[in-house]
Amino acid sequence: KQTDTPSTLLMIFGATGDLAKRKLYPSLFHLFNKGKISKDFAVIGVARREWTEEQFKKHVEDSVLTSIGTKENIDEFISHFYYQSHDVSDSESYITLKNLADSLDNKYNLHGNRIFYLAMAPEFFGTITDHLKSDGLTDTQGFHRLVIEKPFGHDLPSAEQLNNQIRESFTEDQIYRIDHYLGKEMVQNIEVIRFANALFEPLWNSRYISNIQVTSSEELGVEERGRYYEKSGALRDMVQNHMLQMVALLAMEPPIKLTTEEIRGEKVKVLRALRPLKDDEVKDYFVRGQYGPNETGGRGYRQEPNVDPNSNTETYVAGKLMIDNFRWAGVPIYIRTGKRMETKSTKIVIQFKDIPMNLYYNRDKPLAPNLLVIHIQPDEGITLHLNAKKSGQNVETTPVKLNFSNNSVDGMNTPEAYEKLLHDCMRGDATNFTHWDDVKLSWAYVDKISEVWETTKETEFPNYCAGTAGPKAADELLEKDGFYWWPIDNLDVDNC
Ligand code: BG6
Repeated sequence: KQTDTPSTLLMIFGATGDLAKRKLYPSLFHLFNKGKISKDFAVIGVARREWTEEQFKKHVEDSVLTSIGTKENIDEFISHFYYQSHDVSDSESYITLKNLADSLDNKYNLHGNRIFYLAMAPEFFGTITDHLKSDGLTDTQGFHRLVIEKPFGHDLPSAEQLNNQIRESFTEDQIYRIDHYLGKEMVQNIEVIRFANALFEPLWNSRYISNIQVTSSEELGVEERGRYYEKSGALRDMVQNHMLQMVALLAMEPPIKLTTEEIRGEKVKVLRALRPLKDDEVKDYFVRGQYGPNETGGRGYRQEPNVDPNSNTETYVAGKLMIDNFRWAGVPIYIRTGKRMETKSTKIVIQFKDIPMNLYYNRDKPLAPNLLVIHIQPDEGITLHLNAKKSGQNVETTPVKLNFSNNSVDGMNTPEAYEKLLHDCMRGDATNFTHWDDVKLSWAYVDKISEVWETTKETEFPNYCAGTAGPKAADELLEKDGFYWWPIDNLDVDNC
């Protein structure tokens, strides 16, 4: 099969870790089997463990089998994998790595193209990038790209420090910061829905939209990640990145072209227009929550492994964002995200303003509002909620839904976010990665909230039971404005 990706050497730092196992190897295997990567490719797994190459290949094979359950072409696939046991702060290790990389360049004719994927804790990012440059791994003729996972810093100052360090060795256009939400099919579809339809864009503003609700709820708790999560919380873990990225895509102006720079420029303008919060406004605009145990034996956050039994870390955030520009003046954008909620679901609800009056049957009752719902996961699709005539003699209205389900387009699941992002990176397309400008602005926004939260302890934690819809205060946030959250599941307008 023809492929649109150049031959590449991929070096994965953290090759024995969880992310590589769950996401990267299965995604690479998919790309390989779909003919989307050049047959001239090699992967060097880099990690501290003293594994042999055979052990590593077995690990890759197992991860593919567990995740995909097929063995087709697996031998050919893993024949491209190599391993190096590595000490991230030791030059010797990088020199051995460089020798291996150079020999694979020759063997597979890779033209010196290299992608360095850092699938490991961010405290090592700076050390690794320094060594990659000083020990000559970026001295080849081809392209050099650096892929980094979140978290990108802990706040703006630490993100700046990290960025400065990385920029000593890589230029901004060589850096691919992963936000895996940008690889999700329906997140990518936001732009298409908006800019490829005559129907929506004219209405996409404060004259016709009353509010927007972006929800990303999870059923799982913090699982084994208590140590990381204690320092992060939902605000840093989800809002600074995924939630604000979705808001930027929903609110941006149409780009003049679909290039990385133009799209990014428009997204950055949204983040610049976010109304900054004053100290005393944080409590009016943002609600935090923490899950407690439930009656069916579900653990509370404070009982999770590696979590302080008096922890003040939030596992839930709801907030109201205002975008101070011409298009959005006065339209609240509500966001909420939490762990151990009733269901796993990411959805965007765009609620349109009511029409001036109800001419039909029950004249005193407003008609159900029109909603456009973008289902990001687990179901993928769009629903448009309208009012139509109820069959029968009377002219009575009834809410109806127009459904488009993305999952059923070709009868198979859409590719995983990581698969798309890896492919984009290999092709040199950075559109669905975050630029330093986004990162900087989103940290500046959330830093104000965390500053206030850190100085005021939440005395009511835990304030929602595991497996429920989150704290009551999140409902009040909308009630104050005359709105309510549309349910995460079974979003039937007549049920509300
Ligand atoms: C990650 C967060 O970025 O996103 C996790 O660190 C969270 O805490 C995950 O569980 C959610 O991703 P998804 O794709 O399952 O919605």
